[in-house]
Amino acid sequence: PAPLQISPSILAADFANLEDELRRIETADWAHVDVMDNHFVPNLTLGLPVVEALARVTPVPLDCHLMIEDPDRWAAGYAEAGAGSVTFHVEAAADPVATARAIRAAGARAAFAVKPGTPFAPYEELLDEVDMVLVMTVEPGFGGQAFMDDQLPKVRAVREAAGRRGGQIWVQVDGGVSADTIGRCVEAGADVLVAGSAVYGADDVPARIGELRALARR
Ligand code: DX5
Ligand code: ZN
Repeated sequence: PAPLQISPSILAADFANLEDELRRIETADWAHVDVMDNHFVPNLTLGLPVVEALARVTPVPLDCHLMIEDPDRWAAGYAEAGAGSVTFHVEAAADPVATARAIRAAGARAAFAVKPGTPFAPYEELLDEVDMVLVMTVEPGFGGQAFMDDQLPKVRAVREAAGRRGGQIWVQVDGGVSADTIGRCVEAGADVLVAGSAVYGADDVPARIGELRALARR
């Protein structure tokens, strides 16, 4: 299996001090950047110019999670802006194959995400086009929500399908990941653990990242 990776979500960080907030997570594998457009989800965060600026100031690769309409139009731009990984939602993509290929052509890892109500099975063939699948374990839009245990069978299904296809496809879990829930995610087959409030809510952020890593050990 792939090594376990921690991707703290800066959605829970202080937006007035993002450069400092990124410095607090330099021991993490990724910085998860939640892009929301007020249409795909009922919340608005940041977009391309901010991602470009963040990429300039941090050595941590950016893991951009696009919760936006029309990702076909925008996704490759995030790769060009310097993101190391770009995830789009299948519910919003008109041509997911072309979008995944455009992300990869622009030099980033490509991933698709599924909301809690979206089944994975219809998208199994898309595994040939991506490096990762994001299984949402809360309704996208806000941090600090309760982890949805009923999504764990989907994590398992993605892990199994990825195994059947061969290659190295990571499974990412996003939403409500904490010291209490991270073990279940890893047990179900997650490789990349996103955590917002669990990381930035800690007094000692690097220590919390270390704790999560230790709890995630398989
Ligand atoms: C929710 C975002 C998540 C969010 C997770 O729409 O996609 O990345 O930041 O926050 P926590 O870890 O607090 O659930
Ligand atoms: Zn996210």
